[in-house]
Amino acid sequence: MSDQLRLDGGGDTLLVGISGGRPRIDYWGPELPQGFAPDAGLLERARPHGMLDGGEAFDLLPEAGNGFTGAPALQVSRPSGGFITQLRHQGAQRRPGGLDITLADPRAGVEAAISIDVDAPTGVTAFRTRFRNTGDEPLRIEWAAAAALELPDGEVLAFGGRWAREFDAHRFRLPAGLWASEARTGRTSHHAPPFLVAGEAGFGEHHGRVLGLHLAWSGDHRLLVERLRDGRLQAQAGELFWPGEMVLPPGGTYGTPTLYAARSEAGLNGLSDRFHPFVRDRILDGRLRGRPRPVHFNTWEAVYFRHDLSELKALADSAAAAGVERFVLDDGWFRGRNDDTAALGDWSPDPVKYPDGLGPLVEHVRSLGLEFGLWVEPEMANADSDLLRAHPDWVLGEPGREQPLGRGQYVLDLTRPEVAEAIFAQLDGLLSAHPIAYLKWDMNRDLTHPASGGRPASHAQVRAVYALIDRLRAANPAVEIESCASGGGRADYEILRRTDRIWTSDCNDPIERQSIQRAFSIFFPPEVMGAHVGPADSHTTARTTSLELRAMTALFGHMGVEADVRAFNPRELEALKAAIALHKRLRPLLHGGRLVRQVPPDPGAVAFAVVGEEGALASLAQVETPRIAGAAPFRLQGLDAQATYDVRMLNPPRRARAAMKHVPALVRGETVRATGRWIAETGLPAPILRAGEIAVFQLSRSAA
Ligand code: DGJ
Repeated sequence: MSDQLRLDGGGDTLLVGISGGRPRIDYWGPELPQGFAPDAGLLERARPHGMLDGGEAFDLLPEAGNGFTGAPALQVSRPSGGFITQLRHQGAQRRPGGLDITLADPRAGVEAAISIDVDAPTGVTAFRTRFRNTGDEPLRIEWAAAAALELPDGEVLAFGGRWAREFDAHRFRLPAGLWASEARTGRTSHHAPPFLVAGEAGFGEHHGRVLGLHLAWSGDHRLLVERLRDGRLQAQAGELFWPGEMVLPPGGTYGTPTLYAARSEAGLNGLSDRFHPFVRDRILDGRLRGRPRPVHFNTWEAVYFRHDLSELKALADSAAAAGVERFVLDDGWFRGRNDDTAALGDWSPDPVKYPDGLGPLVEHVRSLGLEFGLWVEPEMANADSDLLRAHPDWVLGEPGREQPLGRGQYVLDLTRPEVAEAIFAQLDGLLSAHPIAYLKWDMNRDLTHPASGGRPASHAQVRAVYALIDRLRAANPAVEIESCASGGGRADYEILRRTDRIWTSDCNDPIERQSIQRAFSIFFPPEVMGAHVGPADSHTTARTTSLELRAMTALFGHMGVEADVRAFNPRELEALKAAIALHKRLRPLLHGGRLVRQVPPDPGAVAFAVVGEEGALASLAQVETPRIAGAAPFRLQGLDAQATYDVRMLNPPRRARAAMKHVPALVRGETVRATGRWIAETGLPAPILRAGEIAVFQLSRSAA
């Protein structure tokens, strides 16, 4: 076997070197000529004094035992004290599109199998490792990264955030030391989602060499970046275990979550060009293709916990009249649920609010031609619930020990079959009793006492949640599910395998949403991005925004409405109707085209375009007061340079002269014609926008 195993995909080549007993990435970049093999001398590194004789032994699974002095990818221990591992290459097995590399340390009693799969069309590469305890004592895993990857360049774009401000991107350079982002909340998290991008200095939306990483795991995790002593930069991602959580019995195995990685020479949009089709085809397995995403009406910001049947029917009527296609009954519908302190776990309709059950509302909604969806939070129970009164021991935690509550609730121990069974039976019963097309699956508290049977069970709980969703889907294959965790706290590729939409954020304020959606869209395509038109006054920011900005912001995702539409004035209602109609008309483009984030002419703006065969739709939203006085041209990237487009502003300002002495023809509503090249290089005349205003342009490819 040659010293290198080669994988190709998406115009890239990955060379995995296996000489010297250890697997390393020798090359990952634009496709190499077939048959190319680097001179062995090209792979040598000078070794400095003051370090081990073999230098820093960095590879796909660096271990201290093999001479690596950075953060190792594997840390284990035995009850008798052993902890050194020195895995050596045993063999490699090729599969279509991938390979498995096996390593073993018979003395330590550890085996590892690293799997690498390259998606041929997109080049998105999946790394995961399975460890086996081949010894005769239990093997405790302290840390096991899916893989360690070298970051080619040192500027890191990481994501933090909080409730109602998810996917808050920040950049840093790491001159020395180690940066880690950890979530210990039992969910993907608002503050430390397991993604990052690293690239060459100043990489942007359209330029720069970048590597994007995404750990597909919906529980506790760690993502780290470390400057090694020899100057290289490593990244690792894996599950974060609680003390003593992952102990393998003799013969036992543990498989890491998958770390998805993609590289691009064309900046962040280049990454999305790989991740979006990959998500569509591989993560969602093509299941949304050809199934237009129905426009939602969600009751939460319209009525919160105040459920009144006639009011809800009236809301459904107004929503249907506005063009909505699916009505989602949010929190507040079940037995005893009048605020967020009680009733989670008791999944039957509240007899006071729904004396005849959900039937009358479901029938009414369906008689309007709408699908019916229902909010649930299956992993939780309130202390004040019939479920916990009957089974106080069904929660994760140590029996008898008080634990901090989140929203007055506990996390159910779904690792116990009887608990999972009881929740499944309740949910399945609801789905059998009513034609429910959709579940909004929420998860609203951090998990701080993940103990089951006296042992840590954070990992097992995540697996149990996956299993519960999988079982429910298998039993109800037509039902779609949305992943929600207090907004966007559970947004990752593993939950998305089994769900159809992600509730991006509880912040429906479009000013915030523009930035949230920009960062979210690096990894996720627009059709899974829940985006709602909220009320004019945002409950999360206390800001007031126009219907136009709210609607034109929601237009670019999986659109919905989440406000009391009966309170909209006639002009707003007309505008909402028009926006929904526009969304429906352009849905094939919006949900199937190529999303290209744009560099706006003013730094206080956010701009997107979705480009398809027939044309494009672009938005320019001014989220802050403009920094520059006159609007610079809007240079729109991503179009076909040779094609000619008829460009029209869909929402010419009604009082344009309030902000502009001269209003360009395009901004007056006239159609202008230009080539894609002109639009990219010279740009479109843009309006002067004030904070909170948005311009939307439709570009139709002209036959001429
Ligand atoms: C949190 C979700 O993110 C909201 O959209 C809403 O469903 C509430 N929970 C209901 O309690």
